[in-house]
This record gives sequence, C-alpha cells and structure tokens, in this order.
Amino acid sequence: MRLLVTAGPTREFADPFRFISNPSSGRMGFALARAGRRRGHRVVLISGPVELRRPDGVKLVPVVSAREMRKKVLEYFFASDALIMAAAVADWRPAGRSSKKLKKNRRDSTLRLAPNPDILRDAGRKKGGRILVGFAAETGNLIDNARSKMISKRLDMVLANDISLPDSGFRSDRALLVAVGADGTVEEWPPMTKSRAAERIIARVERLAREKRTHDPD
Ligand code: CTP
Repeated sequence: MRLLVTAGPTREFADPFRFISNPSSGRMGFALARAGRRRGHRVVLISGPVELRRPDGVKLVPVVSAREMRKKVLEYFFASDALIMAAAVADWRPAGRSSKKLKKNRRDSTLRLAPNPDILRDAGRKKGGRILVGFAAETGNLIDNARSKMISKRLDMVLANDISLPDSGFRSDRALLVAVGADGTVEEWPPMTKSRAAERIIARVERLAREKRTHDPD
C-alpha cells in the first residue's frame, strides 16, 4: 500500500519569534511510518516540527503550520491508499502575522485568532476508495466524541486517546488507545509502546483495505 502519515504539532506564528502550538512529540506518527515501512508499504510522512530522526526508507515532508500541512496532505492524498492523521494540528492560528516582533507596550493585549482548516475533514470530502484513520484526543466522553469525529470526518477508524490520563499524554512513550471502528466496534487496547500500537494500527489498515477490495473489487 501507499501510506500517507502525519505527525507532530503545527506551529502558528504571531510574529517571527512567537507561535501557538502544543506539546506533541511526533512519536506516534513516526512509529506509524516505521511500522508501515517494516510491513512492506511505501510511506510518505508529513511532519510538523519535531526532534526525531527520519525513519529509514520513508519520505519525510517537513511542514510548520496547519495550512502548510493541509496543502501537502492534499498533494499526496490522491496517490495514497490510506491516510493516517496522527498530527496534533492546531485548531487556531493568530488572525494576522506581524513581520516584526510584537512589542509589550500595552498593559494587556488580546490576540485575535482565526480557525484553521480541518485537514482530515477536507480529505474525507475527497475520500474515494481510500482508507482514512484519525486520532481523537479527548478529556471526557471518549467514545461519543470519537464516534462523532468518525462520522463528521468520514473515517474508517478512530484511535481515541484520553489525554487526561498520565500514561496517555502527548509526550509519553506509551499509548493507551481505544479503537473505534466505522462498523460500530469499540476495543480497549491495553497500554503498550507507541511502536506496538503502530504495528496494530497498520495491521488494521491492511485488514480494512482487504475488506474494501472484497466489497468493491474495482
Ligand atoms: N485534525 C485535522 N485538522 C485539524 C484538527 C484535527 O486533520 N485542524 C485531525 C487530527 O489529526 C486527528 C483528528 O482530526 O486525527 C481529531 O483531532 P482532535 O484534535 O482530536 O479533534 P478536533 O477535530 O480538532 O476537534 P476538538 O478539538 O473539538 O476535539
């Protein structure tokens, strides 16, 4: 298969030196790229700024902002069989970007924000026969929220992740995931390394691809 994987945070700059972001390490997305490669797939990895080494045999496309990530995802999407969005995309960006450092010459200040595009939803609109997998980072109502993301973004599978739990955090080496399938299945996976979780996710994507081929041989 041709796999397209995203990883890491995005950075949304307010001026040349300040940005909005999140503490995503990129480990889940990189583990998925490595697992995909190990299992014999062709992998393109689109990643926000992270401190990780490019996995061997994987094409790495570095990006910074959500809008850059969207452009690259849509560019590679049509030549892919599956998209796995593990990136922690910033939902908002500063409404404007100053070319000079913003000065602290006022007692208080308000940063105006503009919404970023939802990359996965945009890809879902052009889905065709492709497999779409998303993550759902939640701090409550895990399964319900994961299900609504699955429906609104037209996903085949969501890995729901309670980010308020200590072993499930953004920067952890371990993953505590609940796999929610478009067929209604809900599976609580035991805690495991991101590398093992990635193997499982890729194996699921392979299975979904086989099922799609059986139902829709063309
Ligand atoms: N995602 C995306 N584009 C965005 C935000 C999220 O493609 N602008 C993707 C993420 O990579 C993930 C999935 O959508 O696979 C769900 O992301 P999450 O942050 O859990 O949820 P949101 O859709 O941003 O919704 P909310 O923040 O309201 O929970």
